[in-house]
Amino acid sequence: MNNRRVIVKVPASTANLGPGFDSLGMALSLFAWIEMEKSDTGNTTFQLHGDGMDGLPTDKSNLIYKVAQLVFSEAEVEVPDLHISMYSEIPLTRGLGSSASAIIGALVAANALIGSPLSDDKLFQMATALEGHPDNVGASLFGGIVVSAWDGSEAQHVRIEPQESLETLVAIPAFQLSTEKARHALPTQISMADAVYNVGRTSLLVAALASGELGLIRHAMKDRLHQPYRAALIPGMTEILERATDFGALGAALSGAGPTLIAFVDAASPDKAGLERFLQATLQKEGITAETMWLAPCKTGPEVTIEELSAGSDPLSGKRISLLERIKGEVKA
Ligand code: HSE
Repeated sequence: MNNRRVIVKVPASTANLGPGFDSLGMALSLFAWIEMEKSDTGNTTFQLHGDGMDGLPTDKSNLIYKVAQLVFSEAEVEVPDLHISMYSEIPLTRGLGSSASAIIGALVAANALIGSPLSDDKLFQMATALEGHPDNVGASLFGGIVVSAWDGSEAQHVRIEPQESLETLVAIPAFQLSTEKARHALPTQISMADAVYNVGRTSLLVAALASGELGLIRHAMKDRLHQPYRAALIPGMTEILERATDFGALGAALSGAGPTLIAFVDAASPDKAGLERFLQATLQKEGITAETMWLAPCKTGPEVTIEELSAGSDPLSGKRISLLERIKGEVKA
């Protein structure tokens, strides 16, 4: 097989959607791009661009490289060296699934590089085991809204098509919060009453999203499993979750492990600017600067572009179009 260049565009995601801790996710229209090509020079090279990408390793301990090797090993092929480029507009460690997008992008790119021997479900299983929960990776891989469950060895999922009218507003605080720290804040046991509370809300939320009864989101997007315990880490969060519906939101939640907050909105809502001002002002009162962004649900998973390369073409030649040039018209910033 000739060498090929693979470019994968993969969406960000929001996990939990309030009550669906570790089980609900939705893909968002904010993206990372990964370009991958075999290297015959005996060297692996990296070009990483985007906010916060400077600090990431550029040797074989890099996550993209390691994940790609898992694909090759599963498929029983050897591709020891790669040229890897990445550009991400997904802020790191903010609760928008940047690591899940990187994992999915790497799995899909590596699989495409060797002719896609692994199924999407196999990639989902591998990604879930790597992340430790299926919510973000499921959304980035399948697009739309993904409901999933994992028993520690196998994950199941059902994808729901997001309603046309659904839009989101995210407020991304200017500080990072690691998922590890945010999971550390959680209790090891909860009461039966809280478990029942979340079972009811999660079920209602899934039914509301699937049926289009979006008016139920305000009742369903409530949680007692993780948000109350994480509130101390995100000043302003409790007020936003309680009052966002007064400003026209369908509901609001902590996005994944935070610190990003996400409001679900009817795209035709008359006062979207008022909701945005409320989120900004509430965080500002707590001394937190945040960037707000309107993001539509992303209905598709990774977009894969494959370019067959002629034998002997030099992947590092000055003539090749760089990933950044290639995606110039598509990036947000
Ligand atoms: N479900 C996960 C959590 C998402 O809330 O910890 C974070 O990646």
